Amino acid sequence: MDIILIAAITADGFIARHENDPVTWSEDLHVFKEQTMGFPIIMGSNTAKTIDKELEGRKIIVVHRDDEPKMILENIKAKKCFIAGGGRTNTMFAPFLTHLYLTIHPIVFGKGIPLFTGLEEQLFLELIKAVDVVPGKGIIQYQYKSQKKKM
Ligand SMILES: NC(=O)c1ccc[n+]([C@@H]2O[C@H](COP(=O)([O-])OP(=O)(O)OC[C@H]3O[C@@H](n4cnc5c(N)ncnc54)[C@H](OP(=O)(O)O)[C@@H]3O)[C@@H](O)[C@H]2O)c1
Repeated sequence: MDIILIAAITADGFIARHENDPVTWSEDLHVFKEQTMGFPIIMGSNTAKTIDKELEGRKIIVVHRDDEPKMILENIKAKKCFIAGGGRTNTMFAPFLTHLYLTIHPIVFGKGIPLFTGLEEQLFLELIKAVDVVPGKGIIQYQYKSQKKKM
């Protein structure tokens, strides 16, 4: 199964200003919808609270601090699933990621929630594709393959 982290990030690597900050600044929602449609999406409890609309057509799995990521993934019967933040949840699933889809936005927060909160190991990535998310604005989604272990 492909386990794909998907995120909108600032030019300085943040995904939010603080833990309850809804992502109102991203310009890749149409791509997020297209790419995740029909597949399970895993997110942390803080992120779930920031989302006001149902993500139709996708099963949402909300994870908590005591959840065992390996077990959650083993219970998913799909060709792929998405890890959709926040920073703590991305770190929880980091050892299992097969891909990272990162859309870099022309904004700097200076501080906030990083893509990975407290990640202690390095991930080694290989660029496999760049998608022009907003033509003419230079907003690109970089699709990487992770060299970390796969399920
Ligand atoms: N830009 C993007 O693409 C994007 C995507 C997703 C999210 N976000 C943003 O990310 C932010 C949320 O990120 P987040 O990292 O705060 O939250 P999160 O990963 O969404 O959820 C927090 C997770 O960490 C656990 N946790 C909370 N406190 C903990 C602690 N002290 N020790 C260990 N685990 C703990 C929670 O478990 P419990 O439920 O047990 O507390 C939950 O599983 C929001 O502002 C959201 O908008 C941005």
